[in-house]
Amino acid sequence: MQSTIVDLNQLLAPVKPEMQLVDTWLTSNLIDDNNFVSDLLSQVFKSGGKRLRPALTIVSSKASLKDGDEISRLHIILAVLTELIHTASLVHDDVIDQASLRRGESTVNKKWNDKLAVLIGDLLFAQASICLARLMNPQIVGIYGQVLGDLCAGEIKQMRQQFSTSVDWDTYIRKSVNKTASLFAAGCQSSAILNRREEDVVASLKSYGVNLGVCFQIVDDLLDVTGNTDQLGKAAGSDLANGVVTAPALFVLEQNDAHANRLKELINTRAVSESDGLAEALSIICQAGGIEKTVQLATKYAQAAKQNLDCLSASTYKDSLAAIADYLLVRTN
Ligand code: FPP
Ligand code: MG
Repeated sequence: MQSTIVDLNQLLAPVKPEMQLVDTWLTSNLIDDNNFVSDLLSQVFKSGGKRLRPALTIVSSKASLKDGDEISRLHIILAVLTELIHTASLVHDDVIDQASLRRGESTVNKKWNDKLAVLIGDLLFAQASICLARLMNPQIVGIYGQVLGDLCAGEIKQMRQQFSTSVDWDTYIRKSVNKTASLFAAGCQSSAILNRREEDVVASLKSYGVNLGVCFQIVDDLLDVTGNTDQLGKAAGSDLANGVVTAPALFVLEQNDAHANRLKELINTRAVSESDGLAEALSIICQAGGIEKTVQLATKYAQAAKQNLDCLSASTYKDSLAAIADYLLVRTN
């Protein structure tokens, strides 16, 4: 049995040269005729981030190449546009959440203001559209168009459920597919489309991306409860403080016992938005087994993602895709 690699850089070593090209594009090629805007864009990307989505796109591209084919500039552009859309959505998300910290740095809305953050997010979406056009592939344009709709739909669903304790599992998972897994799946699936692979390979990589994305979001929701701000590079506990009920809380709420009743009260009265109420809610979730059950749920999605890889022939890159699923379960930020 292979042991889990806990260092993402080590895990992505087989795609280091391609990831350097992606990084150069994001930190130096996003030129605007206004220096202030160019500097701001490169600061957004230089502040880091795991680059997980572009890495997945590159690894999927390599894992699904036809014999004798090589990775091309189009695969790099696909990876870049996937990260551009992700970062744009985070810049907008930080406005919606009034967040001050992202990737260990002040958010654009905090450092400047909401109006500028909305426009910078829009500019990143525009840059992504230009990359998309360069791929000259209408099927991929359609997939990413759907992703943009899914991101908005996911955020709207989440907003409409704030401080509600009647969220069900189906709604929670569908929201996670919309806001997170849809973009993961687009990168994985489109890499196989660029490689002119058969429909079953494209569909399997799409399913891999969906399962992996849901796993990622469940772990994100878990880290919001168990992590700390230094480690996450963003405010911990902010989901519940904003009234967003995720897997760790859902597991406790469905128990219908004293823990569930108290948690319900703290959410419905919005006491979770105050520091005492939030601390109590987080402690109830930990005491009542919400953490362990959430880990089990994320593990189920990681296993499903690995099964989706059966259609690929054996390679280092196929192994990396499986290892990424394992890594997501042990990541700490
Ligand atoms: C972070 O999730 C946010 C997202 C994954 C998606 C946000 C999407 C939008 C704001 C809509 C984008 C707009 C267009 C035009 C497509 P999170 O809040 O769970 O994670 P966090 O703790 O890192 O903030
Ligand atoms: Mg957020």
